[in-house]
Amino acid sequence: MRTGRPSARIHALMERMTLEEKLGQLSMLADGLIETGPPGPHNPFTMIEEGRVGSLLNVWGRDLIREAQRKALEETRLGIPLFFGLDVVHGHKSIHPVPLAEACSFDRALWEETARDNAIEAATDGIHMTFAPMLDVSRDARWGRIVESAGEDPLVNAEYGRARVRGYQNPGDDGFMRIAGCAKHFCAYSAVISGRDYGEVDVSQRAIEEIYLPPFRAVVEEGVAAIMPAFVDVAGVAMTAHKRLLRNVLRGQWGFEGLIISDYNAIAELVNHGVAADLCEAGVLALKAGVDIDMMGDAYNKGLPEALARGDVTLDEIHEALVRVLAFKEQLGLFDDPYRGIGRDISNGRVKRRALAREAAQKSMVLVKNDAVLPLRNPARVGLIGPMCDAPADQLGAWASAGAAEDSITILAGMRAGFASSRIVYAQGCDLKSAIYGGAEEARLAAADANVIVLCLGEERFTTGEACSRTRPELPQCQLDLARLVYESGQPVVLVLAVSRPLVLPDWLVDGAAAILICWHAGSETGPALADLLSGAVSPSAKLCVSWPATLGQMPVFYGMRPTGRPHDPNNGWSTSFLDAPYAPRWRFGEGIGYACFERSNLRTDVARVSREGVVNVSVDVANTGDCEAIETIFLFIRDPVARVTRPVLELKDFARITLRAGETAMVQFTLRANDFSYLDENMESRLDDGLIQIFVGASSRPEALQRVDVIVDASGAIV
Ligand code: NOJ
Repeated sequence: MRTGRPSARIHALMERMTLEEKLGQLSMLADGLIETGPPGPHNPFTMIEEGRVGSLLNVWGRDLIREAQRKALEETRLGIPLFFGLDVVHGHKSIHPVPLAEACSFDRALWEETARDNAIEAATDGIHMTFAPMLDVSRDARWGRIVESAGEDPLVNAEYGRARVRGYQNPGDDGFMRIAGCAKHFCAYSAVISGRDYGEVDVSQRAIEEIYLPPFRAVVEEGVAAIMPAFVDVAGVAMTAHKRLLRNVLRGQWGFEGLIISDYNAIAELVNHGVAADLCEAGVLALKAGVDIDMMGDAYNKGLPEALARGDVTLDEIHEALVRVLAFKEQLGLFDDPYRGIGRDISNGRVKRRALAREAAQKSMVLVKNDAVLPLRNPARVGLIGPMCDAPADQLGAWASAGAAEDSITILAGMRAGFASSRIVYAQGCDLKSAIYGGAEEARLAAADANVIVLCLGEERFTTGEACSRTRPELPQCQLDLARLVYESGQPVVLVLAVSRPLVLPDWLVDGAAAILICWHAGSETGPALADLLSGAVSPSAKLCVSWPATLGQMPVFYGMRPTGRPHDPNNGWSTSFLDAPYAPRWRFGEGIGYACFERSNLRTDVARVSREGVVNVSVDVANTGDCEAIETIFLFIRDPVARVTRPVLELKDFARITLRAGETAMVQFTLRANDFSYLDENMESRLDDGLIQIFVGASSRPEALQRVDVIVDASGAIV
């Protein structure tokens, strides 16, 4: 968003505004439909009448929003329209897989299309802004908000963020952006110590620059309308008041001119952080750091008049934020059409949107084990067992916004339709968290004589998401007991895990399953999508965007670690390792199989040496040697084996998807610029060294899945 100088309309409006009305425009209030923090003492509707609120959050629905807007237009002195924001994180009415799941598709086009559908549905319900995409690179399964992210890799989060922003913000039929994106949480929120939500963060400058900032930089380049600072402090500096990162880096170096919107009550919470004595000081700190809108803190409304009187802030500083807010409303077209899009009939697109939700769910489910039991070819009798089989609300996952459980197609319904000629014998077995009366017996009966058992275990939707940190991200005991009982039947078991974070699974559970499909909380169309994959109508194609730890104590575990002076060596006790746990995670970043087999050959570069301005094309031939059409994702990593600072053992630089028919071969090509080999040196300056760069191309981050080709950089070693 470009604000520049205020338009004549905004200029004229500002001339007429009182201080109270100006601060009102900088204040965002929740209506109470969803509260994700302390409820405000205020009634938003009274505040609207008083002209003391400029936007509402967490309200939706045409009638409610029309009424709020009408009040703002007709019952306030200046009639400035409101804008409305909501966490439309993975769907509004049609719910798509949770972000951690959809990221596993590695499908940029899909990420954009589902965001577009989110925007279309939200806009007709009166929403102008989604508080998404969430771009916190997440490596710790204890942190419940891992579900909202695109996983452990900065590049994947950056690419996911770009696609989401395009999907939300590209112009709709009326020529205005569909809805605005608000990328969050700037930055490093996911690094909270022990994965404890809202805790403190203490990460290095290198981690900030290399891991946490790049996804935000990408969405700023993509033109994201707004950014939300994180709740947390980073090395003692609260992000809501982080002048260096908000003013110098985000606004200064990156040229971001959009809105900065605080998180819920975060300005007021600067008092709890111990960096402000009261709301007045808190408001000053946030405004000076560049925060334009105070979400639910009431610090701008209450604190800034006093700060202004004391000379702690200037009217110009308030105007800077005000111009941005009004320019945003103007850019949305709200001054000319304040009810824009509300109630637009989009019913004729519903079938298409549900089809996309089904496709997204198919492309998000990750098959991590298959002892030749899948696909299921017309089994006479399927035992369908477990508490996630018929869980229409839980399958939607956290942050399902306005999604309704009644609109979900459950696994039970999907399997009955997808396996119409099989006998499906269903037993819930247990609750998500506790045993149910008669559950064991019922499950035993369903398992008996089945040709195959599909065992659906998982998590309750509200055990992941905000304020859902867990020291033990595991399956509850009742579900493990159910699994044991089912395994005792001796029938082959397809274990389906409907979860929103990586879980630590006991070895016996993994070893005893004939196949394991991580189906995640996959949204409204979970059931049909699962049946499509289990029946073989579609081959699974997703790959993990986040490592699954083998044990609790391994966390955080991720592929892009640095090499250490004593790299892991299973035959050497004096190398980095655990005495009581494996070194590697249970499943690594990039793992995931389908029903076809792929072989890669002829990995090559078009040049052996590359200059500083040069480009290297890396190609590999990929053959589908299986007997069905399928999609393969190919990853390209690099390693700089000798640099001034230690570089990760693998660093993702690109990924590509390719669809191949049985027997087909095609070439996949990646283009790297020499600058992709640059890094931050010991002084945090970007440099590109002469010398060897190893390029690894393959099916996952597993060393055996990768092939290597080298290139020599000939760049004179100067600072770039
Ligand atoms: C708090 C969360 O941290 C943030 O992600 C969300 O957008 C706001 N609440 C609004 O619901």
